[in-house]
Amino acid sequence: MSHPVLLTRRLPAPVLQRLRDSVDLELNPHDRPLHREELLAGIRGKKGLLCLLTDRIDAEVMDAAPELKVISNYAVGYNNIDLRAARERQIWVTNTPGVLTEATAELAMGLLLAVARRLGEGDQLVRSGQWRGWEPLQLLGKEIHGSTLGIVGMGRIGKALARRAAAFGMNIQYWNRTRLPGDIEVEKTWRYRSLPMLLASSDVLSLHLAYSAETHHLINAEALRIMPAGSILINTARGALIDEAALVEALQRGHLGGAGLDVYEDEPRVHPGLRDFPNVLLLPHLGSATQQTREAMGHLAVENLLAGINGVEPTHIV
Ligand code: GLV
Ligand code: GLV
Repeated sequence: MSHPVLLTRRLPAPVLQRLRDSVDLELNPHDRPLHREELLAGIRGKKGLLCLLTDRIDAEVMDAAPELKVISNYAVGYNNIDLRAARERQIWVTNTPGVLTEATAELAMGLLLAVARRLGEGDQLVRSGQWRGWEPLQLLGKEIHGSTLGIVGMGRIGKALARRAAAFGMNIQYWNRTRLPGDIEVEKTWRYRSLPMLLASSDVLSLHLAYSAETHHLINAEALRIMPAGSILINTARGALIDEAALVEALQRGHLGGAGLDVYEDEPRVHPGLRDFPNVLLLPHLGSATQQTREAMGHLAVENLLAGINGVEPTHIV
Protein backbone atom coordinates (compact mmCIF):
# COMPACT_ATOMS: atom_id res chain seq x y z
CA MET A 1 0.00 0.00 0.00
CA SER A 2 1.35 3.42 -0.79
CA HIS A 3 1.58 6.06 1.87
CA PRO A 4 1.74 9.49 0.26
CA VAL A 5 2.93 12.07 2.79
CA LEU A 6 3.72 15.78 2.57
CA LEU A 7 6.51 17.17 4.76
CA THR A 8 6.42 20.96 4.76
CA ARG A 9 10.05 21.63 5.72
CA ARG A 10 13.35 19.78 5.89
CA LEU A 11 13.84 18.08 9.31
CA PRO A 12 17.03 16.70 10.97
CA ALA A 13 18.71 14.05 8.79
CA PRO A 14 17.92 10.90 10.83
CA VAL A 15 14.25 11.88 10.91
CA LEU A 16 14.17 12.57 7.19
CA GLN A 17 15.80 9.22 6.46
CA ARG A 18 13.26 7.41 8.56
CA LEU A 19 10.46 9.10 6.66
CA ARG A 20 11.98 8.31 3.29
CA ASP A 21 12.27 4.66 4.37
CA SER A 22 8.68 4.33 5.44
CA VAL A 23 6.44 6.55 3.27
CA ASP A 24 6.18 8.06 -0.20
CA LEU A 25 7.57 11.39 0.74
CA GLU A 26 7.04 14.74 -0.88
CA LEU A 27 9.30 17.31 0.74
CA ASN A 28 9.20 21.08 0.40
CA PRO A 29 12.32 21.67 -1.73
CA HIS A 30 12.74 25.27 -0.55
CA ASP A 31 14.51 26.63 2.50
CA ARG A 32 11.41 28.59 3.54
CA PRO A 33 7.80 27.82 4.52
CA LEU A 34 5.55 26.71 1.67
CA HIS A 35 3.45 29.44 0.14
CA ARG A 36 -0.26 28.94 0.43
CA GLU A 37 -0.71 27.72 -3.18
CA GLU A 38 2.24 25.35 -2.80
CA LEU A 39 0.73 23.89 0.34
CA LEU A 40 -2.66 23.45 -1.31
CA ALA A 41 -1.04 21.78 -4.32
CA GLY A 42 1.33 19.65 -2.25
CA ILE A 43 -1.31 18.22 0.04
CA ARG A 44 -3.35 16.87 -2.88
CA GLY A 45 -3.66 13.08 -2.77
CA LYS A 46 -1.83 12.78 0.57
CA LYS A 47 -2.81 10.51 3.44
CA GLY A 48 -0.48 12.14 5.91
CA LEU A 49 0.80 15.64 6.61
CA LEU A 50 3.85 16.42 8.73
CA CYS A 51 3.77 20.17 9.28
CA LEU A 52 5.26 22.94 11.38
CA LEU A 53 3.91 25.68 13.61
CA THR A 54 4.62 28.09 10.75
CA ASP A 55 2.02 26.33 8.52
CA ARG A 56 -1.60 27.38 8.82
CA ILE A 57 -3.66 24.21 8.39
CA ASP A 58 -7.35 25.03 7.96
CA ALA A 59 -10.44 23.51 6.33
CA GLU A 60 -9.32 24.54 2.84
CA VAL A 61 -6.06 22.61 3.20
CA MET A 62 -7.91 19.58 4.57
CA ASP A 63 -10.46 19.68 1.77
CA ALA A 64 -7.67 19.64 -0.79
CA ALA A 65 -6.81 16.12 0.47
CA PRO A 66 -9.93 14.01 0.93
CA GLU A 67 -7.77 10.97 1.85
CA LEU A 68 -6.01 12.81 4.66
CA LYS A 69 -5.95 10.74 7.86
CA VAL A 70 -3.46 12.48 10.08
CA ILE A 71 -1.91 15.91 10.62
CA SER A 72 1.26 15.46 12.63
CA ASN A 73 2.44 18.82 13.96
CA TYR A 74 6.17 19.15 14.64
CA ALA A 75 5.57 21.16 17.83
CA VAL A 76 3.93 20.88 21.21
CA GLY A 77 1.68 23.87 20.45
CA TYR A 78 -0.99 23.37 17.80
CA ASN A 79 -2.77 26.72 17.48
CA ASN A 80 -1.76 26.72 13.80
CA ILE A 81 -4.31 23.96 13.09
CA ASP A 82 -8.09 24.30 12.92
CA LEU A 83 -8.99 21.49 15.30
CA ARG A 84 -12.71 21.75 14.72
CA ALA A 85 -12.32 21.39 10.97
CA ALA A 86 -10.10 18.34 11.55
CA ARG A 87 -12.62 16.78 13.92
CA GLU A 88 -15.45 17.30 11.45
CA ARG A 89 -13.39 15.50 8.80
CA GLN A 90 -12.25 12.78 11.21
CA ILE A 91 -8.60 13.64 10.75
CA TRP A 92 -6.29 12.97 13.67
CA VAL A 93 -4.16 15.90 14.85
CA THR A 94 -1.05 15.09 16.88
CA ASN A 95 1.73 17.04 18.61
CA THR A 96 5.11 16.35 20.23
CA PRO A 97 4.69 16.85 23.98
CA GLY A 98 7.29 15.94 26.60
CA VAL A 99 10.40 15.84 24.41
CA LEU A 100 10.89 19.61 24.33
CA THR A 101 10.16 20.23 27.99
CA GLU A 102 13.75 20.50 29.24
CA ALA A 103 15.00 22.48 26.22
CA THR A 104 12.22 25.04 26.56
CA ALA A 105 12.68 25.35 30.32
CA GLU A 106 16.41 25.88 29.75
CA LEU A 107 15.69 28.70 27.35
CA ALA A 108 13.23 30.33 29.74
CA MET A 109 15.85 30.11 32.52
CA GLY A 110 18.42 31.59 30.15
CA LEU A 111 16.17 34.52 29.29
CA LEU A 112 15.37 35.08 32.95
CA LEU A 113 19.05 35.24 33.90
CA ALA A 114 19.96 37.30 30.85
CA VAL A 115 17.31 39.96 31.43
CA ALA A 116 17.80 40.15 35.21
CA ARG A 117 21.57 40.49 34.88
CA ARG A 118 21.50 42.56 31.70
CA LEU A 119 23.62 40.18 29.64
CA GLY A 120 22.43 41.58 26.31
CA GLU A 121 23.39 45.12 27.28
CA GLY A 122 26.74 43.93 28.60
CA ASP A 123 27.52 42.14 25.37
CA GLN A 124 26.58 45.24 23.39
CA LEU A 125 28.82 47.42 25.51
CA VAL A 126 31.87 45.23 25.02
CA ARG A 127 31.24 44.79 21.28
CA SER A 128 30.75 48.51 20.79
CA GLY A 129 34.26 49.27 22.00
CA GLN A 130 32.82 51.77 24.49
CA TRP A 131 33.59 49.77 27.62
CA ARG A 132 36.01 51.68 29.86
CA GLY A 133 36.62 49.02 32.47
CA TRP A 134 35.09 47.88 35.74
CA GLU A 135 32.84 50.44 37.40
CA PRO A 136 30.97 50.23 40.70
CA LEU A 137 27.68 51.33 39.18
CA GLN A 138 27.86 49.80 35.75
CA LEU A 139 24.91 47.79 34.40
CA LEU A 140 23.58 46.83 37.79
CA GLY A 141 20.92 44.17 37.50
CA LYS A 142 18.57 42.34 39.80
CA GLU A 143 19.79 39.41 41.82
CA ILE A 144 17.42 36.53 41.22
CA HIS A 145 18.48 34.65 44.37
CA GLY A 146 15.77 35.29 46.91
CA SER A 147 13.37 36.83 44.40
CA THR A 148 9.99 35.44 43.46
CA LEU A 149 9.18 33.69 40.21
CA GLY A 150 5.55 33.52 39.12
CA ILE A 151 4.82 30.73 36.65
CA VAL A 152 1.67 31.06 34.60
CA GLY A 153 0.72 27.54 33.48
CA MET A 154 2.19 24.73 35.57
CA GLY A 155 2.38 21.96 32.94
CA ARG A 156 5.50 20.01 32.12
CA ILE A 157 7.48 23.05 31.01
CA GLY A 158 6.33 25.23 33.91
CA LYS A 159 7.39 22.54 36.39
CA ALA A 160 10.74 22.05 34.66
CA LEU A 161 11.38 25.80 34.98
CA ALA A 162 10.30 25.70 38.64
CA ARG A 163 12.94 23.04 39.41
CA ARG A 164 15.65 25.10 37.72
CA ALA A 165 14.65 28.39 39.33
CA ALA A 166 14.47 26.78 42.78
CA ALA A 167 18.08 25.67 42.32
CA PHE A 168 18.94 29.34 41.77
CA GLY A 169 17.35 30.24 45.11
CA MET A 170 14.11 31.70 43.77
CA ASN A 171 10.79 31.40 45.55
CA ILE A 172 8.29 29.67 43.29
CA GLN A 173 4.64 30.52 42.96
CA TYR A 174 2.26 29.57 40.19
CA TRP A 175 -1.16 29.82 38.71
CA ASN A 176 -2.69 26.99 36.73
CA ARG A 177 -6.23 26.33 35.53
CA THR A 178 -6.26 23.28 37.79
CA ARG A 179 -4.42 23.56 41.04
CA LEU A 180 -1.76 20.89 41.67
CA PRO A 181 -2.29 18.33 44.44
CA GLY A 182 -1.46 19.79 47.87
CA ASP A 183 1.24 17.23 48.67
CA ILE A 184 3.18 18.24 45.56
CA GLU A 185 2.90 21.92 46.48
CA VAL A 186 4.18 21.15 49.97
CA GLU A 187 6.98 18.86 48.84
CA LYS A 188 8.22 21.32 46.23
CA THR A 189 7.33 24.49 48.18
CA TRP A 190 5.44 25.79 45.15
CA ARG A 191 2.79 28.24 46.25
CA TYR A 192 -0.51 28.47 44.38
CA ARG A 193 -1.91 31.96 43.71
CA SER A 194 -4.89 33.31 41.88
CA LEU A 195 -3.83 34.90 38.60
CA PRO A 196 -4.28 38.52 39.82
CA MET A 197 -2.32 37.71 42.99
CA LEU A 198 0.40 36.01 41.00
CA LEU A 199 0.70 39.03 38.72
CA ALA A 200 0.80 41.40 41.66
CA SER A 201 3.44 39.56 43.67
CA SER A 202 6.03 38.16 41.24
CA ASP A 203 9.42 39.74 40.56
CA VAL A 204 9.64 37.66 37.40
CA LEU A 205 6.63 36.30 35.52
CA SER A 206 7.09 33.48 33.01
CA LEU A 207 4.39 32.15 30.68
CA HIS A 208 4.01 28.42 30.06
CA LEU A 209 0.49 27.81 28.87
CA ALA A 210 -1.10 26.94 25.57
CA TYR A 211 -2.44 29.65 23.33
CA SER A 212 -6.16 29.55 22.53
CA ALA A 213 -9.09 31.93 22.21
CA GLU A 214 -9.37 31.84 26.03
CA THR A 215 -5.74 32.77 26.64
CA HIS A 216 -5.51 35.39 23.87
CA HIS A 217 -3.89 38.53 25.36
CA LEU A 218 -3.93 37.05 28.84
CA ILE A 219 -1.23 39.59 29.60
CA ASN A 220 -3.00 42.78 28.55
CA ALA A 221 -2.70 46.38 29.70
CA GLU A 222 -4.62 45.64 32.91
CA ALA A 223 -2.42 42.64 33.77
CA LEU A 224 0.72 44.65 33.08
CA ARG A 225 -0.50 47.41 35.38
CA ILE A 226 -0.95 44.89 38.20
CA MET A 227 2.61 43.63 37.84
CA PRO A 228 5.03 45.28 40.30
CA ALA A 229 7.14 48.17 39.04
CA GLY A 230 10.50 46.85 37.90
CA SER A 231 9.31 43.29 37.38
CA ILE A 232 10.38 41.14 34.45
CA LEU A 233 8.20 39.32 31.93
CA ILE A 234 9.41 36.16 30.13
CA ASN A 235 7.57 34.47 27.26
CA THR A 236 8.69 31.25 25.61
CA ALA A 237 5.16 29.94 24.94
CA ARG A 238 3.17 31.78 22.27
CA GLY A 239 3.35 35.43 21.31
CA ALA A 240 -0.33 36.28 21.36
CA LEU A 241 -0.57 35.42 25.07
CA ILE A 242 0.72 38.98 25.42
CA ASP A 243 -0.82 42.14 23.98
CA GLU A 244 2.42 43.41 22.45
CA ALA A 245 1.17 46.97 21.98
CA ALA A 246 0.29 47.08 25.70
CA LEU A 247 3.70 45.65 26.56
CA VAL A 248 5.45 48.35 24.54
CA GLU A 249 3.36 50.94 26.34
CA ALA A 250 4.27 49.49 29.77
CA LEU A 251 7.94 49.52 28.81
CA GLN A 252 7.69 53.10 27.58
CA ARG A 253 6.22 54.16 30.91
CA GLY A 254 9.22 52.49 32.54
CA HIS A 255 6.87 50.32 34.53
CA LEU A 256 8.49 46.99 33.73
CA GLY A 257 12.10 46.21 34.59
CA GLY A 258 12.54 44.25 31.38
CA ALA A 259 11.28 41.47 29.19
CA GLY A 260 12.68 38.35 27.57
CA LEU A 261 10.74 37.19 24.53
CA ASP A 262 11.22 34.15 22.34
CA VAL A 263 7.80 34.32 20.63
CA TYR A 264 5.72 37.07 19.03
CA GLU A 265 2.15 37.77 18.04
CA ASP A 266 2.82 37.75 14.32
CA GLU A 267 6.07 35.89 13.69
CA PRO A 268 8.46 36.65 12.14
CA ARG A 269 7.24 40.23 12.48
CA VAL A 270 8.32 41.84 15.74
CA HIS A 271 6.46 44.86 17.09
CA PRO A 272 8.83 47.69 16.10
CA GLY A 273 8.46 49.30 19.53
CA LEU A 274 10.02 46.27 21.21
CA ARG A 275 13.35 46.85 19.52
CA ASP A 276 13.72 50.25 21.20
CA PHE A 277 14.41 48.99 24.69
CA PRO A 278 17.85 47.85 25.84
CA ASN A 279 16.20 45.96 28.73
CA VAL A 280 14.26 43.73 26.33
CA LEU A 281 15.94 40.61 25.00
CA LEU A 282 14.53 39.28 21.74
CA LEU A 283 15.13 35.74 20.50
CA PRO A 284 13.92 34.10 17.27
CA HIS A 285 11.67 31.31 18.69
CA LEU A 286 14.49 29.07 19.91
CA GLY A 287 12.67 27.24 22.74
CA SER A 288 13.08 23.73 21.37
CA ALA A 289 16.16 24.51 19.29
CA THR A 290 18.67 21.90 20.43
CA GLN A 291 19.97 19.10 18.24
CA GLN A 292 18.65 16.43 20.61
CA THR A 293 15.23 17.94 21.02
CA ARG A 294 14.62 18.66 17.34
CA GLU A 295 15.51 15.03 16.57
CA ALA A 296 13.32 13.69 19.36
CA MET A 297 10.43 15.88 18.17
CA GLY A 298 10.96 14.50 14.68
CA HIS A 299 10.86 10.88 15.77
CA LEU A 300 7.72 11.49 17.78
CA ALA A 301 6.09 13.32 14.88
CA VAL A 302 6.99 10.44 12.54
CA GLU A 303 5.56 7.85 14.96
CA ASN A 304 2.33 9.82 15.21
CA LEU A 305 2.21 10.13 11.44
CA LEU A 306 2.88 6.43 10.75
CA ALA A 307 0.27 5.31 13.23
CA GLY A 308 -2.27 7.67 11.67
CA ILE A 309 -1.74 6.66 8.05
CA ASN A 310 -1.93 3.01 9.08
CA GLY A 311 -5.29 3.62 10.70
CA VAL A 312 -3.96 3.13 14.23
CA GLU A 313 -4.82 5.75 16.83
CA PRO A 314 -1.65 7.84 17.40
CA THR A 315 -0.32 8.24 20.95
CA HIS A 316 -0.24 12.02 21.02
CA ILE A 317 -3.62 13.14 19.74
CA VAL A 318 -4.45 16.68 20.78
C1 GLV B 1 7.28 25.36 19.81
O1 GLV B 1 7.00 26.50 19.97
C2 GLV B 1 6.35 24.27 19.96
O2 GLV B 1 5.16 24.49 20.22
O3 GLV B 1 6.81 23.13 19.82
C1 GLV C 1 4.52 20.78 27.35
O1 GLV C 1 5.16 19.75 27.14
C2 GLV C 1 3.74 21.17 28.53
O2 GLV C 1 2.77 20.50 28.82
O3 GLV C 1 4.10 22.14 29.22
